[in-house]
Amino acid sequence: MKILSVVGARPNFMKIAPFIQAIVQHNKLKTDNSQLITHLLVHTGQHYDDRMSNTFFEELGIPKADINLGIGSGSHAEQVGQTMIAFEKVLEAEKPDWVVVVGDVNATLACSVTAKKEWVKVCHIEAGLRSGDINMPEEVNRLVTDRLSDLLLTPDHLSNENLKKEGVEDSRMVFVGNIMIDTLEANRHKAEAIPIKTILQNNIFENIQRDLPDIKDENYVLITLHRPSNVDEKEVLEPIMRFLIDEVANNRTILWPIHPRTQKQLIQFGLFDEVKLHPNIILLKPLGYFEMLRLNMGAKIMLTDSGGLQEECTVLGTPCLTLRWNTERPVTLKENGGSSVLVGNNVNRIREEYKEALKKQPTPVRPPHWDGNTAQRCLKAILDAS
Ligand code: UD1
Repeated sequence: MKILSVVGARPNFMKIAPFIQAIVQHNKLKTDNSQLITHLLVHTGQHYDDRMSNTFFEELGIPKADINLGIGSGSHAEQVGQTMIAFEKVLEAEKPDWVVVVGDVNATLACSVTAKKEWVKVCHIEAGLRSGDINMPEEVNRLVTDRLSDLLLTPDHLSNENLKKEGVEDSRMVFVGNIMIDTLEANRHKAEAIPIKTILQNNIFENIQRDLPDIKDENYVLITLHRPSNVDEKEVLEPIMRFLIDEVANNRTILWPIHPRTQKQLIQFGLFDEVKLHPNIILLKPLGYFEMLRLNMGAKIMLTDSGGLQEECTVLGTPCLTLRWNTERPVTLKENGGSSVLVGNNVNRIREEYKEALKKQPTPVRPPHWDGNTAQRCLKAILDAS
């Protein structure tokens, strides 16, 4: 059997790493050649910087991509269109039995559509997540990918419910758990061993000369922001920045690994220098997987608009303020037993929940099947469906 799996952007790498490992393990146990799996990894190249891509391959032991489509930055239509054109040629040359896509980025959409048009079976890992917000590019990607996929592998029961409501038959979906937690569990100890100071020293943002404070666990707030809905408009981003600068950074150190999109926007809105030079805000370059996991483990509070971090906070117990009005991952929310609260981008609400979160102790939660063995269940589901 030949499986071709696809990655494109940063949040895909931690999802594909355990899946590739599961294939390697499967092949080790098979003596009969007919049961061996041939695997090819395609990187669309949507994320291309070392820090957004290569670092994750090295840290997580992902083999170099067999094929890199070199798509790079662009509008959504450019990224999706160019990926489809290039991926069609790959499918014609390689003729896989299955294309496996993960998550909800532009690569997920482009490659699932192309595969179906070439009559190749598609498996979607992390199927069934729904934010209900069609203005979010990732929601469009999820809806189209799930509509087309032959096999829908879901991270939680709520996702199965979502798919059922959309009319998906039970035979097309398998509840496998959260594959990203496989990566977290496999690397927890490595991450724990990294001193925070080393992370700061190795990642301090370009051209900033400063003495680094001695930061201890629970003494800092960790921030990530990259969603277009939070960073692309000055009217939205500026009040959030004022809250961070005037209220949070007054009392606590903020550690902020900054996404390229957010950096560009802060520069454009004339806000970047104030943030960069603030004595209590430590801007960092995009971090590696172990470094981010380590900082998450020690954070007093996480403020983020990333879906993946919401999930990692749930398992680690870090109180998480999610700067969004909705989430495709409701299993991470406080009302469902998780550690995350939706605060949108309204500063009054962010402030109120920030104060509440400061009073909290870390409370790790483990939803069903978020146990580190999801990749094996994914591969079994594919073999069963073949
Ligand atoms: C993408 C995903 C999003 C995911 C996020 C994680 C889609 C629709 N969005 O959003 O789901 O949460 O990745 O990071 O697929 N850039 C660089 N270097 C890079 C990559 C990007 O400088 O290696 C710059 C580009 O110039 C671009 C901006 O960052 O303007 C945004 O990149 P893009 O790939 O368009 O989307 P993300 O916002 O990263």
